[in-house]
Amino acid sequence: MPTNRHIVLLPGDGIGPEVVAEARKVLEAVAATFDRSLSFEEQLIGHAAIAATGDPLPEATLEACRRADAILLGAVGHPRYEADPTLPVRPEQGLLRLRKALALFANLRPVRLFDELLDASTLKPEVIRGTDILFFRELTGGIYFGEPRGRDEADTRARDTMTYSREEVRRIARMAFEAAGRRRRVVHSIDKANVLETSRLWRETVEEVARAYPDVALHHMYVDNAAMQLIRNPRQFDVVVTGNLFGDILTDEAAQLTGSLGMLPSASTGAKVGLYEPVHGSAPDIAGTDRANPLATILSAALMLEQSFGWTEEAEAVVAAVSQFLADGWRTPDLASEDTPSGKIVGTRRAGTLVADAVRQMVMGHA
Ligand code: NAD
Ligand code: IPM
Ligand code: MN
Repeated sequence: MPTNRHIVLLPGDGIGPEVVAEARKVLEAVAATFDRSLSFEEQLIGHAAIAATGDPLPEATLEACRRADAILLGAVGHPRYEADPTLPVRPEQGLLRLRKALALFANLRPVRLFDELLDASTLKPEVIRGTDILFFRELTGGIYFGEPRGRDEADTRARDTMTYSREEVRRIARMAFEAAGRRRRVVHSIDKANVLETSRLWRETVEEVARAYPDVALHHMYVDNAAMQLIRNPRQFDVVVTGNLFGDILTDEAAQLTGSLGMLPSASTGAKVGLYEPVHGSAPDIAGTDRANPLATILSAALMLEQSFGWTEEAEAVVAAVSQFLADGWRTPDLASEDTPSGKIVGTRRAGTLVADAVRQMVMGHA
């Protein structure tokens, strides 16, 4: 019997359950065709968990995650909380607490344009062709977690605190430089060192780390400029390292280089158990309509196979199956253009089935 890998699924809210179901289909196809053993367990997070238990990260969920070999998350977030900003218990807290509790300080967000989607983006093909960027977003520090935070007693003022320690910067910078050594040997570190004290410490610390990697070129860039450079000339970037807030914003922007936010996967690492999730959110505007693109979650599952299980061939098969799906002309609505024949536009479920079928065929063709 092959060694079993136990995956905790956290479908969450909105389109989360829809895209996670499709990634599971693909993982099951991988297990069947590569003779691997996978087991799955679903747990609550986000609004779904609040509705059932009052807590966006119930103890049972956290316990299951600690025991897991890897975690696959859909999305958290619900419109109800937008209507009332004073609600103290919120879905997003579940995800933030999970990242912190599992010490997942590094969030890898690969931004790779599939050639088949050159025309899917709103940006010009000649600008985005060949885009291949690996973002390292710091995930357990910065303004997301700094204290003090909250409102004053009179409710006239609110504050958040941005903090970074040298060690927090060092560990993510090292990861970025290591990765750059295996890629094009260029790191862009993004900050706001012309204004922020945390960014000046960030910059100084990244410079220190860089000394141990003399064959990797380091460029510093201010975040406002980086936002512009990303869409002006994305090919200048290879590895990008940045803090929690800047990384959140820049990667949604970068997603558009790949055609859709529905294409961008992520891997959160740094400790024992890895957490894999699409970059997008719960998309309440399309939830329940079978219009969500499941590819970001499927590609997140591929990252899981490679990074948590070391199953390189299986991970490559999933990526190749996604390429095949696109090369065959299939498009979810977010990827469709005026030229897409209506018969080629597929919903979430059909897209997942087609990719799972492509995994099986790939292996049959290979054998
Ligand atoms: P969003 O990412 O959910 O959606 C932004 C836009 O992109 C929407 O128009 C949506 O329809 C579209 N989109 C997103 N994913 C898609 C997919 N897979 N296929 C097709 N279209 C897709 O961001 P938002 O609307 O700003 O936030 C909605 C909720 O999601 C909020 O509650 C927010 O806090 C939460 N959120 C959660 C995560 C997460 O769980 N990691 C990430 C971002 C936002
Ligand atoms: C993301 C999301 C989260 C973040 C929210 C939902 C807490 O936007 O994963 O990118 O800001 O980190
Ligand atoms: Mn985000």
